[in-house]
Amino acid sequence: MPLSNSQMRDVQSVLHPYTNLMKHRDTGPMILDHAKGIRVYDEQGKDYIEAMAGLWCTALGWGVDELADVAAAQMRKMAFAHIFGGRSHEPAIALAEKLKEISPFPAGKVFFANSGSEANDTQIKIMWYAANARGKTQKKKIISRNKAYHGVTLVAASLTGLPNNHKSFDLPFDFVKFADCPHYYRNAEAGESEAQFSARMAANLDALIQREGPDTIGAMIAEPVMGAGGVILPPQGYFDAITRVLSKYDIPLIDDEVITGFGRTGEWFGCSTYGFEPESMSIAKALSSSYLPISAVVLSPELSEIIEDESGRIGTFGHGFTYGGHPVSCAVALKAIEIYQERDIVGHVRHVAPAFARRLQKLRDHPLVGEASGVGLIGAVELVADKKTKTAFDPAKAVAATIGRFCEEEGLIVRPLMGDRIAFCPPLVITEAEIDELFDRFDRGLARGLDWVKGQGLLAP
Ligand SMILES: Cc1ncc(COP(=O)(O)O)c(C=O)c1O
Repeated sequence: MPLSNSQMRDVQSVLHPYTNLMKHRDTGPMILDHAKGIRVYDEQGKDYIEAMAGLWCTALGWGVDELADVAAAQMRKMAFAHIFGGRSHEPAIALAEKLKEISPFPAGKVFFANSGSEANDTQIKIMWYAANARGKTQKKKIISRNKAYHGVTLVAASLTGLPNNHKSFDLPFDFVKFADCPHYYRNAEAGESEAQFSARMAANLDALIQREGPDTIGAMIAEPVMGAGGVILPPQGYFDAITRVLSKYDIPLIDDEVITGFGRTGEWFGCSTYGFEPESMSIAKALSSSYLPISAVVLSPELSEIIEDESGRIGTFGHGFTYGGHPVSCAVALKAIEIYQERDIVGHVRHVAPAFARRLQKLRDHPLVGEASGVGLIGAVELVADKKTKTAFDPAKAVAATIGRFCEEEGLIVRPLMGDRIAFCPPLVITEAEIDELFDRFDRGLARGLDWVKGQGLLAP
């Protein structure tokens, strides 16, 4: 199809993130125009169920007037004020208080930034600053995991364990050390139970720490559920096993809740779902239901005290973003959290999660689906050429991406990920009837995918 006028304008002027820009010249963009509830509409008025809540983020769905009203009111009252040099304003104070109330750190402190990447960069700077404050100047290496996703700034991209974030960027930095990806379906040995697999992951982590030298490790960072790396759920006993190893060496755990925060897993935070206690957490995305950019690092009281003391010693905590604690973003985030509380969104997620899980599990019967798993309102399927042997498709055939396009034609936006996985992460306000509609559309896209895979001769005989 020839490109429309607006598609041509896009191709001529916009440099797109995470895009094969050469191909994009021919295919052009999908241009969305407006949105309501869990649906987005393109320029022709075609509706799509947004099964990814944008980028795992628009938790309250689209068209929430209260959020727009709060933003407009705050813009009129005071559109900008910074919080450098000890200045402050009510939206930042109130939001920090609210975050402490709902997070595992009721006596901690909150640092504001604008994106998940900035929050994670800040985490590492804080860990280094704290290590220096304690006189443990060697403790600078950071453990991340293969297939982790922590963002794209230089440090966050280094923490990310995905090749596309490193290739041609001269990354990752040396101080990042990668532990195993705890993907039971792919990485378990024959006959290994989930608990045994978790124990092996922990033993390998222990060996990695020993190899690097326990006194050189500043922290480990982990997502409760690995998102962009494939929606990989921690196997049974995993966090218990790895946190025991970390405590043995006094290594703090940074919890990246950028996707899992604010009810996604059926609890306020993924660390509650999986029962572990981090030293600090990064939050973003659903924090404002993505109506405006905002992220935060929430720190334990001990860690905040060390940072405060060190800033006193050297004269300042020399870190901060112009827009960190932006009053309009803070006001919107505060309102979003009030809505989560008033409408009991976490309770709603628990209520509809079984319907989501049922439809996901049903996909296991499909000839292309090797794994289907999820928690709360996040899940994924992995498409394979042979279910018995778990044989993957040739990545060059782009099976998941092709099925993603069929889904779009069926009015559904899903997210094809590496390893032919397809993710679902709908707005948390989705109803049971809408969950059925979502999976009905997916079934149709997948059925077309099966015909296409067979036509290409890609399915094992
Ligand atoms: C777990 C996690 N951490 C960090 C980030 C980076 O966030 P941002 O894109 O806002 O920089 C993401 C983005 O998807 C994420 O999923």
